[in-house]
Amino acid sequence: MTEAKLEAWLDEKRAFAPSAAFVATANAKPSLYDEANADPVAWWRKQAERLTWEKEPTSTLEWDLPFAKWYGDGTLNASVNCVDRHVAAGNGDKVAYHWVADIEGESRTITYAQLLKMVCQTTNALVELGVKKGDRVAIYMPMIPEAVVAMLAIARLGAIHSVVFAGFSADALSSRILDSDCQYVITADGAFRRGAPSPLKPAVDEALQSCPNVKAVLVVRRTGGDVHWVEGRDHWWHEEVERQSESHTPEFFPAEQTLLIMYTSGTTAKPKGIFHTTGGYLTQCATTYHYIFDVKPSSDVLWTAADIGWITGHSYIVYGPLVNGVTQIMYEGLPDSGGRDRWWRIVEEFKATVLYTAPTTIRTLMKWGDELPKGRDLSSLRLLGTVGEPINPEAWMWYREHVGGNRCPIVDTWWQTETGSIMITPLPGITTTKPGAAMTPFPGISADVVDNEGNSVGNGEGGYLVITAPWPAMTRGIYGDPERFKATYWERFPGKYFAGDGAKRDEDGDLWLLGRIDDVMNISGHRLSTTEVEHALVGHPSVAEAAVVGASDDTTGQAIVAFVTLKLSAEDATKDQSGVIEELRQHVAKVISPIAKPRQIILTPDLPKTRSGKIMRRLLRDVAENRSLGDVTTLTDPTVVNMIAGLMQTENSSEE
Ligand code: PRX
Repeated sequence: MTEAKLEAWLDEKRAFAPSAAFVATANAKPSLYDEANADPVAWWRKQAERLTWEKEPTSTLEWDLPFAKWYGDGTLNASVNCVDRHVAAGNGDKVAYHWVADIEGESRTITYAQLLKMVCQTTNALVELGVKKGDRVAIYMPMIPEAVVAMLAIARLGAIHSVVFAGFSADALSSRILDSDCQYVITADGAFRRGAPSPLKPAVDEALQSCPNVKAVLVVRRTGGDVHWVEGRDHWWHEEVERQSESHTPEFFPAEQTLLIMYTSGTTAKPKGIFHTTGGYLTQCATTYHYIFDVKPSSDVLWTAADIGWITGHSYIVYGPLVNGVTQIMYEGLPDSGGRDRWWRIVEEFKATVLYTAPTTIRTLMKWGDELPKGRDLSSLRLLGTVGEPINPEAWMWYREHVGGNRCPIVDTWWQTETGSIMITPLPGITTTKPGAAMTPFPGISADVVDNEGNSVGNGEGGYLVITAPWPAMTRGIYGDPERFKATYWERFPGKYFAGDGAKRDEDGDLWLLGRIDDVMNISGHRLSTTEVEHALVGHPSVAEAAVVGASDDTTGQAIVAFVTLKLSAEDATKDQSGVIEELRQHVAKVISPIAKPRQIILTPDLPKTRSGKIMRRLLRDVAENRSLGDVTTLTDPTVVNMIAGLMQTENSSEE
């Protein structure tokens, strides 16, 4: 669809009411909002009944701003809630995961009974290795069932998992292990990517050179082949786990027992260890999953196409779905492993009913053409979701038309690592959706859009998104740094949680999320800070100074553009520097991850600075996005930015 056509179309028919058929069977009924808003705390207490408690909580919320306790005197076990109770209820033969490998033709079906057996054996192996309640265990694994099993086994012991995305570098892994003092690591020898093995264990070996406290490493054999082995420290999963007893009697822990740490980028170079506790997190994951994905446990096959290395995988591949006892698809590969129609073949083969993914992936699938989804039977799908970044109306429309056959509601869900669960979203069966809008706070959630002074904006106006009341899955803080937690989220607008996102209320009062307003970039739905990438660049011996901005990109939402000044001798300055750019890109990949590689690096003799010496990133963003430059009068030397704009233009025209 051309842009003009799309706009005309949206003008004419910019909202989609739920179909009568969907309304008739929807989990969410319109009274839900009224019930929740009448007494949100009481409503959340009721939702906690979705869980199996050893001791039912008598208190719901204790709020000592910004520190919350939910269901504080209740006790439970996360793993029992995800697995044991479904088996005990007679659903042991139900499929928990249809796991689909990157490699064509390889798949595994894991029932709840099998999952329980795997979790118990793994728990027993972890006990043997010395893991105890409260210990931190790092997970650095591909998308294989053992990754889920490892999370559940750690949780079963009341230990804390810290999953590090397997695309992160050895340096990124070691800094995360050190920050929360993980003493155990669970990994695999390698992963498959488009059919080819790609090693993982060497990154762990390298990371552990600077982590002397790590006592044991448990390694799943996924790809085969030789691996470096440290005797006494390294243990094969198949040797340690498979010989264990298939039963394990769980202990129960307080609701506020820490369940997980997930590192995410903030505005500084050091990622933040966001931690979540058990009772509130599980309650909100389970409740949101039930209503937003309209879960029908007896007939649905749900597919969250994300990685367990991010919060979406934690909340909507592991905890939300398993507490609800549903059948899921878990996919190891990339969207084009085995061909660009791979996703559609998976939907067809497993009769997926719900698909949840990121706008970047939708835009990529859209670029690959309408013929691919058209060539497969996608009629099993009944609901679609998106998460992670703003979705442009064109991608939304394509998703609706070509994937959802114009019949599936789309839920555009806004949330964050810190919020733990979905916060702003349409509810299928209730909400009339608009392409590109996340619409409405979930029942029991209070959100607002405020101006610079913290006053609510009116309809038709934009501002900052804030959350105005505590919610069950809210992070309980930054691991080991309560002061940073207060300063980052609670001081900008006292008493309110500041999300870091810009938002708009439209004429009807509905919410549109506009992206980050701080130095956090969103690259393909992955969160990275400008400072983190700058820090990596200036760590290279040739770099004197670096400034990084996120520039808009048609596919990845944003892309990284870096402006770098080199330490050059007079003699070097006359030489061709083109090799340096690739070297710097590789350097960033090594220090952080390939996802952090700048799309463009502009070498410049100087950077635009204010008289107080601050780099003017705003101007660099204008340059990177080809906009006319704003006010340059505060710069020490206004000619610098014009020179950079000239360099950028030369670079862009030579690429065309
Ligand atoms: O900017 C928002 C964007 O992703 C950020 C959170 O990133 P992360 O903690 O990695 O979690 C991503 C998955 C939950 C937010 O601050 N974001 C997330 N969902 C949306 C979104 N932006 C617009 N629309 C969304 N639906």
